[in-house]
Amino acid sequence: MKRVVIVGATSGIGYESAKIFLQQGYVVGLAGRRTDNLKPLMEEFPQTTYSKQIDITQPEAPKLLSELIKEMGGMDIYLHVSGIGYQNITLDQQIEIDTVKTNCLGLTQMATTAYHHLSQNGGGQIAVVSSIAGTKGLGIAPSYSATKRYQSTYLQCLTQLSRMRNDNISFTDIRPGFVDTPLLRKANYPMKMKADYVAKKLYKAVVTKKRVAIIDWKFSLIVFFWRLIPTFLWERLKIVKN
Ligand SMILES: NC(=O)c1ccc[n+]([C@@H]2O[C@H](COP(=O)([O-])OP(=O)(O)OC[C@H]3O[C@@H](n4cnc5c(N)ncnc54)[C@H](OP(=O)(O)O)[C@@H]3O)[C@@H](O)[C@H]2O)c1
Repeated sequence: MKRVVIVGATSGIGYESAKIFLQQGYVVGLAGRRTDNLKPLMEEFPQTTYSKQIDITQPEAPKLLSELIKEMGGMDIYLHVSGIGYQNITLDQQIEIDTVKTNCLGLTQMATTAYHHLSQNGGGQIAVVSSIAGTKGLGIAPSYSATKRYQSTYLQCLTQLSRMRNDNISFTDIRPGFVDTPLLRKANYPMKMKADYVAKKLYKAVVTKKRVAIIDWKFSLIVFFWRLIPTFLWERLKIVKN
Protein backbone atom coordinates (compact mmCIF):
# COMPACT_ATOMS: atom_id res chain seq x y z
CA MET A 1 0.00 0.00 0.00
CA LYS A 2 1.25 3.48 -0.87
CA ARG A 3 1.83 5.93 1.97
CA VAL A 4 1.02 9.63 1.80
CA VAL A 5 1.64 12.26 4.46
CA ILE A 6 -0.76 15.21 4.34
CA VAL A 7 0.24 18.27 6.36
CA GLY A 8 -2.73 20.61 6.68
CA ALA A 9 -5.24 17.75 6.78
CA THR A 10 -7.36 19.16 9.60
CA SER A 11 -9.67 21.34 7.48
CA GLY A 12 -10.86 22.37 4.03
CA ILE A 13 -8.98 21.06 0.98
CA GLY A 14 -6.55 18.97 3.07
CA TYR A 15 -9.33 17.19 4.96
CA GLU A 16 -11.26 16.38 1.78
CA SER A 17 -8.07 15.18 0.06
CA ALA A 18 -7.23 12.93 3.01
CA LYS A 19 -10.70 11.38 2.72
CA ILE A 20 -10.10 10.53 -0.96
CA PHE A 21 -6.63 9.04 -0.40
CA LEU A 22 -8.08 6.89 2.41
CA GLN A 23 -11.02 5.76 0.25
CA GLN A 24 -8.51 4.81 -2.47
CA GLY A 25 -6.67 2.52 -0.04
CA TYR A 26 -3.64 4.63 0.84
CA VAL A 27 -2.01 4.66 4.26
CA VAL A 28 -2.33 8.31 5.28
CA GLY A 29 -0.37 10.35 7.83
CA LEU A 30 -2.48 13.31 8.90
CA ALA A 31 -1.01 16.45 10.43
CA GLY A 32 -1.89 19.98 11.50
CA ARG A 33 -2.35 21.82 14.78
CA ARG A 34 -6.04 20.96 15.41
CA THR A 35 -5.70 17.17 15.50
CA ASP A 36 -9.11 16.88 17.20
CA ASN A 37 -10.61 17.62 13.78
CA LEU A 38 -9.08 14.38 12.47
CA LYS A 39 -11.11 12.09 14.77
CA PRO A 40 -13.86 11.25 12.23
CA LEU A 41 -11.26 10.12 9.67
CA MET A 42 -9.25 8.20 12.26
CA GLU A 43 -12.41 6.42 13.44
CA GLU A 44 -13.59 5.56 9.92
CA PHE A 45 -10.15 4.31 8.80
CA PRO A 46 -8.46 3.02 11.99
CA GLN A 47 -6.10 0.63 10.16
CA THR A 48 -4.71 3.12 7.66
CA THR A 49 -4.46 6.44 9.51
CA TYR A 50 -1.67 7.95 11.58
CA SER A 51 -1.68 11.44 13.02
CA LYS A 52 0.68 14.00 14.48
CA GLN A 53 0.16 17.48 15.87
CA ILE A 54 2.52 19.72 13.92
CA ASP A 55 2.77 23.50 13.82
CA ILE A 56 4.86 24.02 10.69
CA THR A 57 6.15 27.41 11.89
CA GLN A 58 7.89 25.90 14.92
CA PRO A 59 11.52 24.67 15.02
CA GLU A 60 10.48 21.15 16.10
CA ALA A 61 8.24 20.67 13.02
CA PRO A 62 10.87 18.81 10.91
CA LYS A 63 11.55 16.37 13.77
CA LEU A 64 7.82 15.73 14.20
CA LEU A 65 7.38 15.10 10.48
CA SER A 66 10.28 12.61 10.53
CA GLU A 67 8.66 10.85 13.51
CA LEU A 68 5.34 10.57 11.68
CA ILE A 69 7.07 9.11 8.61
CA LYS A 70 8.87 6.58 10.82
CA GLU A 71 5.64 5.56 12.57
CA MET A 72 4.08 4.93 9.13
CA GLY A 73 7.01 2.76 8.08
CA GLY A 74 7.99 5.22 5.32
CA MET A 75 6.45 7.71 2.89
CA ASP A 76 5.91 7.66 -0.88
CA ILE A 77 4.13 11.00 -1.30
CA TYR A 78 4.38 14.20 0.73
CA LEU A 79 1.36 16.48 0.25
CA HIS A 80 1.68 19.97 1.72
CA VAL A 81 -1.67 21.74 2.08
CA SER A 82 -1.07 23.94 5.15
CA GLY A 83 -1.39 27.63 4.54
CA ILE A 84 -2.97 30.85 5.74
CA GLY A 85 -4.15 33.87 3.79
CA TYR A 86 -6.01 37.11 4.36
CA GLN A 87 -7.10 40.14 2.48
CA ASN A 88 -4.99 42.89 4.03
CA ILE A 89 -5.90 46.23 2.52
CA THR A 90 -4.77 48.05 5.71
CA LEU A 91 -1.38 46.31 5.39
CA ASP A 92 -1.46 45.06 8.98
CA GLN A 93 2.18 44.15 9.63
CA GLN A 94 1.44 41.15 11.87
CA ILE A 95 -0.74 39.54 9.19
CA GLU A 96 2.05 39.95 6.65
CA ILE A 97 4.67 38.41 8.97
CA ASP A 98 2.45 35.51 10.09
CA THR A 99 1.64 34.67 6.47
CA VAL A 100 5.32 34.64 5.51
CA LYS A 101 6.12 32.41 8.50
CA THR A 102 3.44 29.84 7.66
CA ASN A 103 3.60 29.82 3.87
CA CYS A 104 7.37 30.31 3.35
CA LEU A 105 9.19 29.19 6.50
CA GLY A 106 6.63 26.43 7.14
CA LEU A 107 6.75 25.05 3.60
CA THR A 108 10.56 25.22 3.51
CA GLN A 109 10.94 23.30 6.79
CA MET A 110 8.53 20.59 5.67
CA ALA A 111 9.58 20.29 2.03
CA THR A 112 13.28 19.99 2.87
CA THR A 113 12.53 17.29 5.45
CA ALA A 114 10.38 15.41 2.93
CA TYR A 115 13.00 15.85 0.19
CA HIS A 116 15.83 14.43 2.32
CA HIS A 117 13.69 11.48 3.40
CA LEU A 118 12.69 10.64 -0.18
CA SER A 119 16.17 11.12 -1.63
CA GLN A 120 17.60 8.74 0.99
CA ASN A 121 14.88 6.15 0.32
CA GLY A 122 14.80 5.73 -3.44
CA GLY A 123 12.61 8.72 -4.40
CA GLY A 124 8.93 9.58 -4.41
CA GLN A 125 6.73 12.63 -4.87
CA ILE A 126 6.22 16.03 -3.26
CA ALA A 127 2.97 17.89 -3.97
CA VAL A 128 2.17 21.39 -2.70
CA VAL A 129 -1.08 23.33 -2.73
CA SER A 130 0.00 26.83 -3.75
CA SER A 131 -2.63 29.03 -5.48
CA ILE A 132 -3.49 30.94 -8.62
CA ALA A 133 -2.81 33.97 -6.36
CA GLY A 134 0.89 33.27 -6.92
CA THR A 135 0.65 33.85 -10.65
CA LYS A 136 0.18 37.65 -10.38
CA GLY A 137 0.82 40.14 -7.56
CA LEU A 138 -2.54 40.89 -5.90
CA GLY A 139 -2.68 44.24 -4.06
CA ILE A 140 -5.51 43.16 -1.77
CA ALA A 141 -3.49 40.26 -0.35
CA PRO A 142 0.20 41.15 -0.65
CA SER A 143 1.84 38.53 1.57
CA TYR A 144 -0.58 35.79 0.47
CA SER A 145 0.06 36.42 -3.20
CA ALA A 146 3.85 36.75 -2.76
CA THR A 147 4.19 33.69 -0.51
CA LYS A 148 2.22 31.56 -2.98
CA ARG A 149 4.65 32.68 -5.70
CA TYR A 150 7.47 31.64 -3.37
CA GLN A 151 5.92 28.18 -2.99
CA SER A 152 5.62 27.65 -6.75
CA THR A 153 9.15 28.91 -7.39
CA TYR A 154 10.54 26.78 -4.56
CA LEU A 155 8.98 23.71 -6.10
CA GLN A 156 10.48 24.59 -9.49
CA CYS A 157 13.91 24.88 -7.83
CA LEU A 158 13.53 21.48 -6.15
CA THR A 159 12.40 19.92 -9.44
CA GLN A 160 15.57 21.08 -11.16
CA LEU A 161 17.73 20.13 -8.16
CA SER A 162 16.28 16.64 -8.00
CA ARG A 163 17.08 16.09 -11.70
CA MET A 164 20.63 17.42 -11.22
CA ARG A 165 21.17 15.05 -8.30
CA ASN A 166 19.25 12.09 -9.79
CA ASP A 167 17.12 11.93 -6.66
CA ASN A 168 14.10 10.43 -8.45
CA ILE A 169 11.59 12.80 -6.84
CA SER A 170 8.69 14.21 -8.83
CA PHE A 171 6.88 17.44 -7.96
CA THR A 172 3.30 18.62 -8.34
CA ASP A 173 2.27 22.24 -7.91
CA ILE A 174 -1.49 22.45 -7.31
CA ARG A 175 -2.95 25.90 -7.91
CA PRO A 176 -6.64 26.13 -7.03
CA GLY A 177 -8.82 29.12 -7.78
CA PHE A 178 -11.30 30.25 -5.13
CA VAL A 179 -12.50 27.48 -2.80
CA ASP A 180 -15.25 27.61 -0.21
CA THR A 181 -13.23 26.80 2.94
CA PRO A 182 -12.63 28.57 6.29
CA LEU A 183 -9.69 30.40 4.62
CA LEU A 184 -12.06 32.39 2.40
CA ARG A 185 -15.08 32.40 4.70
CA LYS A 186 -14.90 36.13 5.46
CA ALA A 187 -14.03 37.20 1.92
CA ASN A 188 -16.48 37.77 -0.86
CA TYR A 189 -14.95 35.99 -3.87
CA PRO A 190 -16.89 34.90 -6.95
CA MET A 191 -17.07 31.38 -8.45
CA LYS A 192 -16.09 29.58 -5.23
CA MET A 193 -15.61 25.83 -5.73
CA LYS A 194 -16.52 23.15 -3.18
CA ALA A 195 -13.57 21.64 -1.29
CA ASP A 196 -14.53 18.04 -2.17
CA TYR A 197 -14.61 18.94 -5.90
CA VAL A 198 -11.14 20.49 -5.62
CA ALA A 199 -9.87 17.48 -3.67
CA LYS A 200 -10.95 15.13 -6.50
CA LYS A 201 -8.99 17.22 -9.02
CA LEU A 202 -6.04 17.38 -6.63
CA TYR A 203 -6.03 13.59 -6.25
CA LYS A 204 -6.01 13.12 -10.02
CA ALA A 205 -3.15 15.62 -10.44
CA VAL A 206 -1.08 13.85 -7.79
CA VAL A 207 -1.60 10.28 -9.03
CA THR A 208 -0.93 11.28 -12.64
CA LYS A 209 2.17 13.19 -11.44
CA LYS A 210 1.12 16.38 -13.18
CA ARG A 211 3.85 18.99 -12.77
CA VAL A 212 1.47 21.99 -12.48
CA ALA A 213 -2.32 21.74 -12.07
CA ILE A 214 -4.58 24.78 -12.05
CA ILE A 215 -7.98 23.86 -10.57
CA ASP A 216 -10.26 24.11 -12.41
CA TRP A 217 -10.56 24.92 -16.14
CA LYS A 218 -12.40 28.21 -15.47
CA PHE A 219 -9.51 29.44 -13.34
CA SER A 220 -7.03 28.21 -15.97
CA LEU A 221 -8.73 30.57 -18.39
CA ILE A 222 -8.61 33.45 -15.91
CA VAL A 223 -4.90 32.88 -15.29
CA PHE A 224 -4.27 32.67 -19.03
CA PHE A 225 -5.94 36.04 -19.61
CA TRP A 226 -4.57 37.92 -16.62
CA ARG A 227 -1.05 36.81 -17.58
CA LEU A 228 -1.58 38.67 -20.87
CA ILE A 229 -2.24 41.96 -19.07
CA PRO A 230 0.87 44.17 -19.30
CA THR A 231 2.50 45.11 -15.98
CA PHE A 232 1.92 48.87 -16.33
CA LEU A 233 -1.81 48.18 -16.72
CA TRP A 234 -2.04 45.43 -14.07
CA GLU A 235 -0.54 47.74 -11.43
CA ARG A 236 -3.28 50.30 -12.08
CA LEU A 237 -6.17 47.83 -11.77
CA LYS A 238 -8.57 47.67 -8.82
CA ILE A 239 -8.99 43.89 -8.52
CA VAL A 240 -11.49 43.12 -5.71
CA LYS A 241 -12.63 45.12 -2.75
CA ASN A 242 -14.98 43.87 -0.01
N1 LIG B 1 -9.61 28.44 -0.11
C1 LIG B 1 -9.12 28.90 -1.25
O1 LIG B 1 -9.77 29.63 -2.00
C2 LIG B 1 -7.73 28.51 -1.70
C3 LIG B 1 -7.35 28.80 -3.01
C4 LIG B 1 -6.08 28.46 -3.44
C5 LIG B 1 -5.21 27.85 -2.58
N2 LIG B 1 -5.59 27.58 -1.29
C6 LIG B 1 -4.61 26.96 -0.40
O2 LIG B 1 -5.11 25.73 0.04
C7 LIG B 1 -4.49 25.40 1.28
C8 LIG B 1 -5.55 24.90 2.24
O3 LIG B 1 -6.42 25.97 2.54
P1 LIG B 1 -7.99 25.78 2.74
O4 LIG B 1 -8.63 26.68 1.77
O5 LIG B 1 -8.35 24.36 2.77
O6 LIG B 1 -8.18 26.49 4.17
P2 LIG B 1 -8.37 25.92 5.62
O7 LIG B 1 -9.59 25.09 5.69
O8 LIG B 1 -8.24 27.10 6.51
O9 LIG B 1 -7.12 24.94 5.84
C9 LIG B 1 -5.86 25.40 6.17
C10 LIG B 1 -5.04 24.24 6.66
O10 LIG B 1 -3.71 24.72 6.92
C11 LIG B 1 -3.33 24.27 8.19
N3 LIG B 1 -2.39 25.19 8.82
C12 LIG B 1 -2.47 26.54 8.92
N4 LIG B 1 -1.45 27.01 9.67
C13 LIG B 1 -0.73 25.91 10.05
C14 LIG B 1 0.42 25.74 10.85
N5 LIG B 1 1.06 26.77 11.44
N6 LIG B 1 0.89 24.48 11.04
C15 LIG B 1 0.28 23.43 10.46
N7 LIG B 1 -0.80 23.53 9.69
C16 LIG B 1 -1.31 24.76 9.50
C17 LIG B 1 -4.62 24.20 8.99
O11 LIG B 1 -4.46 23.31 10.08
P3 LIG B 1 -4.44 23.74 11.63
O12 LIG B 1 -5.12 25.05 11.76
O13 LIG B 1 -5.12 22.60 12.30
O14 LIG B 1 -2.99 23.81 11.97
C18 LIG B 1 -5.57 23.64 7.95
O15 LIG B 1 -5.49 22.24 7.91
C19 LIG B 1 -3.75 26.67 1.75
O16 LIG B 1 -2.38 26.53 1.47
C20 LIG B 1 -4.36 27.75 0.87
O17 LIG B 1 -3.47 28.81 0.64
C21 LIG B 1 -6.84 27.88 -0.84
